[in-house]
Amino acid sequence: MSINPDLAVKTGPLNLKNPVLLASGTCGYGIELQGFVDLEKLGGIVVKGLSLEPRSGNPPPRLMETPCGLLNSIGLENVGVDRFISDKLPALSALDTAVIVNILGDSVRDYQELAGILDQVRGIDAIEVNISCPNVRAGGAAFGSDPDMASEVTAAVRKATSLPLIVKLSPNVTDITLIARAVEHAGADAISLINTLLGMSIDIKARRPVLANTFGGLSGPAIKPVALRMVWQAVRAVNIPVIGIGGIQNASDALEFLLAGAAAVQVGTATLVDPLVSVQILEGIRMYMKETGISDISGLPI
Ligand code: SIN
Repeated sequence: MSINPDLAVKTGPLNLKNPVLLASGTCGYGIELQGFVDLEKLGGIVVKGLSLEPRSGNPPPRLMETPCGLLNSIGLENVGVDRFISDKLPALSALDTAVIVNILGDSVRDYQELAGILDQVRGIDAIEVNISCPNVRAGGAAFGSDPDMASEVTAAVRKATSLPLIVKLSPNVTDITLIARAVEHAGADAISLINTLLGMSIDIKARRPVLANTFGGLSGPAIKPVALRMVWQAVRAVNIPVIGIGGIQNASDALEFLLAGAAAVQVGTATLVDPLVSVQILEGIRMYMKETGISDISGLPI
């Protein structure tokens, strides 16, 4: 008898129709992909990180393809929270999929103010707090690499909103479990990991770093084993749901994260290669569950 697997997941207080999400920074504000991808098939969309004011990001060059990966030093370019709410959110929130808004700031106060603004807006299902961007001097990974600072930001955002709160962690730390536990205790409903690994490339003819910002964040299939190891550790360190991110480019990759105990996954760099890949990943997970006789997604973790 063929089963019809139940892919719905509960990520803390956030209900998702399935565990496949688009990762922040790789799908714009979601709506740019309309017409290419049936976004309503997905569990959710995590929009490009938003700051209080618009940002133009770092100077170019800010992207470089590496063997099995991508280095970026975008520097958090975004339209700012007000334009997101007026120009992007209406079309995005009309879609039948979860809208998760990634936020970033230079100070704890910035994060708190952003969360307070978004808390008052209809059509947002959750906030993802970005304390892990490696490409800016202030904020970003500086918050995500210190348990006390990670905790301070999380607690401040928690106070400002009753929306489900996901904190996105950096892999550029010695012990991921310390940061994971710190944000759990400060009130996070879930954690997502990993953001990019800090890297660089040098142009040997020009004799200078390729990226104008010297360093960038490495994503793509090259980082998947590191991401999977950290997700495995985080799942076993905390009692809140973990969302796996890092180099997922097909259903097998996604299933590895789900078997490790991730409640959901985010597909990032692979979408830049093939905008349809997230839907194919979802279908692959469904097929695997049918073939292995697993009727409920909660039965996947090993
Ligand atoms: C960027 O805009 O620099 C990338 C965002 C991130 O890594 O969080």
